Amino acid sequence: MQKPVDIAIIGAGNRGCKYLTLLAGMPDKANVVAIVEPDTRRAAHAATILRDAGLPEPVVFAGCEDMLRSCIPAAAIIATPERGHYSQAMQLLDKRVNILIEKPVATTIEECEAIANKAEEVGVVAGVCHVLRYHPYFSELIRIATDGSLGEVVSVSHRLGVGIDRACHTFVRGPWGIPRLTSSMILSKGCHDLDLVTAITGSHAEKVYSVGGRHFFTEESRPDGSAERCINCAIEKNCRFSAVDLYRRRKEWISGFIPADGETVSEEIERQLSKGDYGRCVFACENETVDRQIVTAAFENGVVATVTMNLFTAEDSRDTHICLTGGEIHGNGRRIKIFPLRGEKTVIDFSARTGAPYHAGADKAVLEDFIKAITTPGYKMLATIDEVMESHRICMLAAL
Ligand SMILES: NC(=O)c1ccc[n+]([C@@H]2O[C@H](COP(=O)([O-])OP(=O)(O)OC[C@H]3O[C@@H](n4cnc5c(N)ncnc54)[C@H](O)[C@@H]3O)[C@@H](O)[C@H]2O)c1
Repeated sequence: MQKPVDIAIIGAGNRGCKYLTLLAGMPDKANVVAIVEPDTRRAAHAATILRDAGLPEPVVFAGCEDMLRSCIPAAAIIATPERGHYSQAMQLLDKRVNILIEKPVATTIEECEAIANKAEEVGVVAGVCHVLRYHPYFSELIRIATDGSLGEVVSVSHRLGVGIDRACHTFVRGPWGIPRLTSSMILSKGCHDLDLVTAITGSHAEKVYSVGGRHFFTEESRPDGSAERCINCAIEKNCRFSAVDLYRRRKEWISGFIPADGETVSEEIERQLSKGDYGRCVFACENETVDRQIVTAAFENGVVATVTMNLFTAEDSRDTHICLTGGEIHGNGRRIKIFPLRGEKTVIDFSARTGAPYHAGADKAVLEDFIKAITTPGYKMLATIDEVMESHRICMLAAL
């Protein structure tokens, strides 16, 4: 029987802890030997995930270099903010560590190529957490569009609704609101969507156009009577973007609020509301990111595509319309409707599966694929850096 692969988690935040939890549930395949996390509260929280699963505690390091001086794991999952991916990946590859890297791979195409080239040179796996490639609904959408049964793809119109709660938490109040410190929204969020488009078109984009901007979450749009913080705001009760409503009343988007020792999550929520970034009025956040954007691409094989991204949707949503020479496909994120130009309409219903945790099982599937690629000679995982390079290139060209 294959020995479990020794894996390190680099960055024990939102994504890192999700992978850690999933790896803790597959001890026959993986053994988490190290956690690299400079935030001591987060590192301690991550260690409890393994302890609670009855597994040995990993060694915790504050940086990748520190870990590599005393421990060289067989594999590492890079789940840090994207500005750190390039240097962490190169350090790990120097020691021939197989890497699975969160999207976006890096913030320039040169860095993405350098990581892919280095991985090839040293002969290790370099996978990407492009989890939609492993998602039951999206992988089926790609299969139906590309298996030839409805002819050739002509056009793809895709809509990405970021969802107003995610938008306020991650992009307006959170670190992804300042793209020069993280990355553009079209890269950080939309790379999944452009990847879906390139998986469907199967071609190189020869023209990319992009329009959009930031018009709403600005000081000029700030309503009369609003305060700097929702907690002191006279009009908070009627505000759709209220942090008090999101975190204190609905208790949503709080998984990253890790309380200090001896404190509760409710205390951490109150600290955020009174002092933290997440308690700020959305119109006073110095956010610099777009709140609407449309990307149009023309591919070498003649396919044309648009991706419309905006923040103002009640839920996170993805909707895709594909025209082919032999029919039409419409997917709303839960159901795929197939309309052949002649013949019966078919509906495939994924509603019972798409709400399942961890991206409907896709987070676990990407881990399993990564481990299989490490342990099976000649096996290539589905989402490699080479595979997603084209979608990253389009996002970088489209960034506003
Ligand atoms: N695949 C997906 O669906 C998906 C979803 C959300 C985020 N992401 C991506 O995952 C990555 C991480 O996002 P997140 O939401 O988990 O962010 P996060 O802020 O919750 O976690 C990042 C963690 O990295 C730690 N960190 C920072 N610098 C570090 C360093 N030098 N070494 C080690 N750790 C360091 C931080 O302290 C933090 O705990 C980003 O690239 C993001 O775009 C992917």
